[in-house]
Amino acid sequence: MIMRRICCVVGARPNFMKVAPVVQALQARGLQTRLVHTGQHYDPQMSAIFFHDLGMPEPDAFLGVGSGSHAVQTAKIMTLFEQDCLDFAPDLVLVAGDVNSTIACALVASKLGISVGHIEAGLRSGDWSMPEEVNRVLTDACADLLLTPSPDADANLQAEGVAAWRIHWVGNCMIDSLLKHLDRARAENTPAQLGVTPGQYAVATLHRPSNVDDPQQLGPVLDALEATSRQIPVVFPVHPRTRAAIAQTGWTPTTGLHLVEPMGYLAFLGLLADSRLVMTDSGGIQEETTALAIPCLTLRANTERPITVSQGSNVLLGTDARRLAPAVAGILAGRGKIGTIPEKWDGHAADRIADLLMQPVRTLRETTLG
Ligand code: UD1
Repeated sequence: MIMRRICCVVGARPNFMKVAPVVQALQARGLQTRLVHTGQHYDPQMSAIFFHDLGMPEPDAFLGVGSGSHAVQTAKIMTLFEQDCLDFAPDLVLVAGDVNSTIACALVASKLGISVGHIEAGLRSGDWSMPEEVNRVLTDACADLLLTPSPDADANLQAEGVAAWRIHWVGNCMIDSLLKHLDRARAENTPAQLGVTPGQYAVATLHRPSNVDDPQQLGPVLDALEATSRQIPVVFPVHPRTRAAIAQTGWTPTTGLHLVEPMGYLAFLGLLADSRLVMTDSGGIQEETTALAIPCLTLRANTERPITVSQGSNVLLGTDARRLAPAVAGILAGRGKIGTIPEKWDGHAADRIADLLMQPVRTLRETTLG
């Protein structure tokens, strides 16, 4: 029997671009999908605009959980998603990435005896102080099908003793969205709208708790961005968490540093695509810059996406913000890393997932165990 009822979960901004191509590929194969939005992110610029930009169908259910402590947010998602699963009895729940919505829904489905698939499985930063690392490891433990973006993720799972039938190297769904929408994104002319010249500006994003929650860390990072903006104009779309943290410091930007509201998918992709370099602590942007061959400086001590460093255009700078200005000077002097694009970051990861899901999980298990 073909698995027909697949519930796809989204909750926070980085989920939308990973799940959109999967929903489309499943529907193209005649599989019945149900799209559930937990409401972890709810501002129009953090959520609704992504549905519009990515051409995603309206969610079948919006759980409206909103913000809260990790426990409150996770518990709210679990309570509401459990009822949704009981009402609609999916054969498989597909979750993506490493946000609280991911672990909450994987755990619910797992305890209801529903198969779970995890898009972007197997990534590990090795840093248990990151909420996302906890979410990754626990989600992978719940998931039957571990849909990985890169061979390093397969190796992590193998090292943890995961059975081979559960691991499927499918490629990077976020890059499916990037390749599909790049021309439309460029047509948005974001640089011109922001008054910067293509190829002659940098982009900065920051939202990791480790960089923004502690003023002792955030202050030097902001100072470093300011120093950088004396070398090249910097566009800095500010995440709500970061905006709140900046407000606490009383810091105000100089003229070369353009603080703007969070952007929609197309506007931001267009901004990235024509930038000279990117400074970030985001996970996804490390991958998007690798796919675009744009030098990326990552302000973190570790990355769960090492292929962006070993193959791509990413440099892991560490958490000492004083390293930023010299690294930017190096890139502007022509020493930026370009790298190569990893295998299966080719626009067809969602197709591979959908082809796999044409078979029930039980069959996958039995086939592999042979
Ligand atoms: C979450 C994810 C993180 C991901 C990031 C992308 C977890 C544990 N973290 O972090 O992995 O990289 O999303 O953005 O799931 N807020 C708004 N409007 C919104 C959403 C949030 O104002 O639409 C505010 C909240 O009120 C809260 C803060 O932003 O104060 C943090 O939101 P939350 O979803 O808890 O975590 P993120 O920091 O966004």
